[in-house]
Amino acid sequence: MNILVLGGGGREHALTWRLACDAGVSRIFCAPGNAGIAQVAVTVPLDPANPADVLAFVEEHDIALTVVGPELPLTRGVVDLLSARGRLAFGPTRAAAEIESSKVFAKEFMVRHRVPTADCEVCSSADAARRVVASGRFGFPLVVKADGLAAGKGVIIAEDRTVAFGAIDAIMVGRQFGEAGERVLIEECLAGPEVSFFVVSDGVRGLSFCSAQDHKRAYDDDRGPNTGGMGAFAPSPLVDAALAARIIDEVVTPTIDGMRAEGRPFRGFLYVGLMLTSGGPKVLEFNARLGDPEAQVLLPLLAEDLMPLLHDAAAGTLSRSSAVFASGATVGVVLASGGYPDRYETRKPIAGLDEAAAAPGVLVFHAGTAIQGDQVVTSGGRVLTIVGRGPDYGSAIARAYEAVGRIAFEGMHWRRDIGAKAPGGARQGAPRDSQAAGEQP
Ligand code: AMP
Ligand code: GLY
Repeated sequence: MNILVLGGGGREHALTWRLACDAGVSRIFCAPGNAGIAQVAVTVPLDPANPADVLAFVEEHDIALTVVGPELPLTRGVVDLLSARGRLAFGPTRAAAEIESSKVFAKEFMVRHRVPTADCEVCSSADAARRVVASGRFGFPLVVKADGLAAGKGVIIAEDRTVAFGAIDAIMVGRQFGEAGERVLIEECLAGPEVSFFVVSDGVRGLSFCSAQDHKRAYDDDRGPNTGGMGAFAPSPLVDAALAARIIDEVVTPTIDGMRAEGRPFRGFLYVGLMLTSGGPKVLEFNARLGDPEAQVLLPLLAEDLMPLLHDAAAGTLSRSSAVFASGATVGVVLASGGYPDRYETRKPIAGLDEAAAAPGVLVFHAGTAIQGDQVVTSGGRVLTIVGRGPDYGSAIARAYEAVGRIAFEGMHWRRDIGAKAPGGARQGAPRDSQAAGEQP
C-alpha cells in the first residue's frame, strides 16, 4: 500500500517513522518532509496545502491513503477534495477542522452540546468586548482570545483592565492577526494543570489514543514567550483510567456525536486540550490533528500497527474503543534555533545526530532540518525532538538528556525541565540564565 504523509515537522517524522514499521505499508511519500524523513520515506517537493497539487500526486502515484499532519492543509480543504474524488484521506474536512480553526465555532459548539469549558462571551466589536471586560462579569485575570488561527499568540491572560483593553485593541483594531481578529472571546480564567488527550475518530466512534503533557513556553519553569511546544512527555500521570473515562464521557462522546449531528462528522485525530480544574476537566481548546511535539512522544509507545487505525478511521470502519499502548514513559526535548520563537538564523550545521540516535532508548526526530551537500543543517525554529524512552519518567528523562548532550549546532537552545513535573522527574542541569540569550540574538 502506498501512503502519502503531508507535512514536514517533527510530528510528520514520527508519523512516517511509525508507518514505516508497519507490515502492510509498501511505500511512503512525504510532502515536503525534511532531512530525517528522507531516511524513512520518499520526500517530494509538493505544497501540502495546495489541494489540486496533492490530488494530482495521489492519482499519479496510486496513493491508497493520505495522512494529513498539520492544520493548514485541512483548512484549505485537502481532505474534501481527495474524498470527493474517491481517495481515502485521514484527517477532518474543512468544516470539521473548524473545531480548531475557529475558537468561536468551538466555544458555541461546546455550549450547544454541554461540553465543559470556560464560561465565555463572544464579541464582534471592540466596543462590545470592552463592555464585557468593564462589566466585571469575569473578574480578573480574564482571558482574551482571537477567533482564528494566530500562531499560538492569540491568547492573552489579562491581569487587569489595561492589559485586556490593550489586547482587544491589538487584535480587533490593530488587526495584529488579520482576519483572525474579526471576533474575540472574553473568557473566564481557569486554574489547574493542563493535559492533552488524544482520540482517533472515524466520525462515529472515538478510539482513545493516550495522553500527554506539553511545555509551551520557551524557557524553564514556564517562563518566556509561547512557542509551538518545547517538549512533551507521555502518558500524562494525571490521566488515570477514571479520569480518562470521565473525559470520554463528558467531552469526547458529546463532541463526536455533536459534530456528526451538525453534519460535520469528525474523522482524524482529535486533540483535546484540557485544564483539570477543581470543578473537573474543562476544555481549553480542540485541535484537529496530532500535537507537535506530542506525536513524537505518543507514537513510540503505540504497541500496534498505526496504518490500520488510520485507514479504518478514514474509511469510517473503526471497531474498537482504544489503541494498545506499551507501559513505560517517553520524554521529548525540542532543540530550537537561537532566538526561536522570534527571529532566528538557519543553515547551521548539526553535529552528533548519529551519536545521539545510537544512544540506548533514544529516537531522534527531525523538524526544521535540510540537507546541504552532505551535511544536515538547520532550516527552522524547532530543529529536532530528542525522545528518551524508559520504564519510568526518570529513566526516560535521563536518556533523552544524555542524547541531547551529544548534539550541537550554533545557537541551539532547549529547556532543562521537560518532564520535571512528572513523578520521579527532575530538571537536568541548572536553569540557564543564558537562555535569555535566545531572546536577544
Ligand atoms: P488555547 O490556544 O486556547 O489552548 O490557549 C493557549 C493557552 O492559554 C492554553 O494552553 C492555556 O495555558 C491558556 N489558556 C487558554 N484559555 C484559558 C482559560 N480559559 N483559562 C486559563 N488559561 C487559559
Ligand atoms: N504542541 C501543541 C500543538 O501541537 O498544538
